[in-house]
Amino acid sequence: MSGTRPDVVVVGAGAIGLASAWRLAARGAAVTVVDPAPGGGASTVAAGMLAPVTESRIGEEAMLALGMASWALWPSFAAEVEAAAGTPVGYRADGTLVAALDADDRRLLDELVERQRRLGLEVTTLRGREARALEPALAPGVRAGAVAADERSVDPAALHAALLTASRAAGVDVREAAVERVLVSGDGPDGRATGVALTGGEVVEAPTVVLAAGSWSGRLAGIPDAARLPVRPVRGEVVTVRPPGGEPLLTRTLRGLVHGFTIYLVPRADGRIVVGATVEEKGFDTTVTAGGAYALLRDALALVPGLDDAELVGVRAGLRPGSPDDLPMVGATAVPGLVAATGHYRNGILLTPITAEAVAATVAGEPVPE
Ligand code: GLY
Repeated sequence: MSGTRPDVVVVGAGAIGLASAWRLAARGAAVTVVDPAPGGGASTVAAGMLAPVTESRIGEEAMLALGMASWALWPSFAAEVEAAAGTPVGYRADGTLVAALDADDRRLLDELVERQRRLGLEVTTLRGREARALEPALAPGVRAGAVAADERSVDPAALHAALLTASRAAGVDVREAAVERVLVSGDGPDGRATGVALTGGEVVEAPTVVLAAGSWSGRLAGIPDAARLPVRPVRGEVVTVRPPGGEPLLTRTLRGLVHGFTIYLVPRADGRIVVGATVEEKGFDTTVTAGGAYALLRDALALVPGLDDAELVGVRAGLRPGSPDDLPMVGATAVPGLVAATGHYRNGILLTPITAEAVAATVAGEPVPE
């Protein structure tokens, strides 16, 4: 059975898929997005740090450059999405405070700051009491801190809801359906993407298929080996808490080095705080575990003792789409008409604006900047 015939079918209605669809629709393309549960993947579990500086890792200079480029797009992207959807995305430009709890954590912090400075990044170091002056909820034992003043955050659930509204308003057809296989005509050099088959038999024909299904992008049937994406799921658990009283306990993103472990606490406008995240390679398993929640809460309470009385709002797990070099896979694949938009690992929300632009440019046949 044959159904609609858009110009582009996007597999996956997470932040990356929806933002890509929205940008494609703005260029005049007829776009269908297919997802059995829009927002049911990693996008709405993410804490939403827009943190290219404090998320940078040794040897990841290419990721840092990409992250900074997407970070620069965020203020206008957030404003555009909010204007199109008529709802907020929880965008905040408060910066990140990194706090080190014990003497060993302080050494880790010093190494981090030195590396970030070597990369030309702006970081200000603080004594413990200066860090507590910025965030009075910090534990009295905090030894030292560092501020990345330009970092930002967004509320991914609010972002996802706004992207859904904005995409639909732009004419994108968002279908709650599962893709059974990607359709590719012919073999080898003659093959090209022709659409997707949905479970139940319906076919959505389209000359371009965008793979934005996060960790599942590599498992879709029908994709020839030459274009198969080497994505792997990396589970991250997050705990959401709500401190008592109406006052926000934190005024900016807090990254903690706590007895050798790293956690982050991202405040929301309504006072909730998202604490993340575990990093586990356990296949496609989104079970939330006692051990994961315990480790996050243990370190969060050591860093911010006032969270002891906080309401435990929930624990969730999502699957980061990891790639062999932990850099995203965005752009044309070996199969004409098949475009990749996945592998964003720890930086899917940060890289949403630049990925959407790159996907729209790829589909239009324009060059995509390195
Ligand atoms: N970007 C933070 C994380 O993936 O946990």
